[in-house]
Amino acid sequence: MTVQQAAPRLGILLQGIGAVGSTVIAGAIAVNKGLGLPIGSLTQLGHIRLGKRTEGRSPLIKDFVPLTPMSGLVFGGWDIFGGDVYEACKTAKVLDGNLIEALADDLKAIKAMPGAFDPDYVKRLNGTHIKAGTRRDWAEALREDIRRFKADNDLERCVIVNCSSTEVYNELSDVHQDLAAFEAGLDANDARISPTMIYTYAALMEGVPYANGTPSWAGDLPALQTLAIERGVPVSGKDFKTGQTMLKTVLAPMFKARMLGVKGWFSTNILGNRDGEVLDDPGSFKSKEKTKLGVIDSILQPKLYPDLYGDLYHKVRINYYPPRGDSKEGWDNIDIFGWLGYPMQIKVDFLCRDSILAAPIALDLALFSDLAARAGRRGTQEWLSFYWKSPMTAPEVYAEHDLFIQLTKLKNNLRHMMGETLITHLGTEYYEQ
Ligand SMILES: NC(=O)c1ccc[n+]([C@@H]2O[C@H](COP(=O)([O-])OP(=O)(O)OC[C@H]3O[C@@H](n4cnc5c(N)ncnc54)[C@H](O)[C@@H]3O)[C@@H](O)[C@H]2O)c1
Repeated sequence: MTVQQAAPRLGILLQGIGAVGSTVIAGAIAVNKGLGLPIGSLTQLGHIRLGKRTEGRSPLIKDFVPLTPMSGLVFGGWDIFGGDVYEACKTAKVLDGNLIEALADDLKAIKAMPGAFDPDYVKRLNGTHIKAGTRRDWAEALREDIRRFKADNDLERCVIVNCSSTEVYNELSDVHQDLAAFEAGLDANDARISPTMIYTYAALMEGVPYANGTPSWAGDLPALQTLAIERGVPVSGKDFKTGQTMLKTVLAPMFKARMLGVKGWFSTNILGNRDGEVLDDPGSFKSKEKTKLGVIDSILQPKLYPDLYGDLYHKVRINYYPPRGDSKEGWDNIDIFGWLGYPMQIKVDFLCRDSILAAPIALDLALFSDLAARAGRRGTQEWLSFYWKSPMTAPEVYAEHDLFIQLTKLKNNLRHMMGETLITHLGTEYYEQ
């Protein structure tokens, strides 16, 4: 397999420049100015072991695979409230005021393009900076935005990361199943097609990889899966795995590894940012609940282990609590049991910062999605499961949620792309000679 060299500059378009979006952009600019480190970013800080442990080869991932350097990133994006990234940072209140002022000129230079928006999909927001016309008009306007962004910034390559509000959950229907039906739906302005589906469609039509940081339907739509394959474009999703779910995908594999039972898992969150306000709407919460709930069943496999996990009660709650802003508290009570069924409890209280955890993930996804495109990958990028609460997979297989299996898979994919031996942890080179 050959991987095309990275372009010296890469465009990153963000669908939604709110708390996460503005923190990604401001963070990247701050790193480039030497005002901070890209903590939490595997592409920037992670090493990868190559060959046997005796070889002592562990380069930085960014030196091993060809990635555009952070100094070559060019940002843009859409938001339904308009304004520039300086205003978005001020509204989000994630970053320190002094840091925002130090970056002000760069942040003010990036202005949000009008979003494709339907208030029925995000009931708590009333967007004012939005595209006119029908769904077909929105799709064409988004494609034009992408082309203009590339031309204005003299960019060969570009990726989109969805950082917009979570849309209400709807079951899929015939209009989502195949490309012809989807395109007829765009022409008919069919309200079953959500704005996020249209952003994804526009990206794929323009050959731009799309990573879905939210629980909304996007590249996982059957019609758009077909389009991604046909156009040879990578897609991945969904819903950034940042706080509580990241912990779940570490703790649950531990219980299973030690054959400890789990009777109940109660997870509650308080958060006070705009995301919390949107998720206070039952329709949007339902989308989030879907991506959060799947994780434990899929790791613990209650059908294989009915004595240990057959009775597990799993509950997830998200409570909008304005005083906390972006500083979320994710609280878990886990009722486990051991030898002869004796009960025990674990309590986890994660006082995290949502956007500080999400920003490096969005950066990595942008860089790896572009790498995937240059490696000739198309359609669902399962090797990026590491970053997702609800990883997209091929239809015939279940998702792998264990964080460390996901990391192994990601690194082995990088080794494979670069023609290095895969690491299986078998250790036979020592014992079987
Ligand atoms: N922060 C995290 O840890 C985390 C983790 C997983 C997923 N997410 C998801 O990421 C998304 C962003 O989170 P956030 O905290 O930045 O929320 P936010 O509310 O601060 O930002 C979302 C932005 O999207 C804009 N928007 C809404 N609909 C739009 C549209 N159709 N087109 C363009 N812009 C649109 C809003 O105006 C807002 O500025 C949410 O869906 C959230 O659930 C966040």
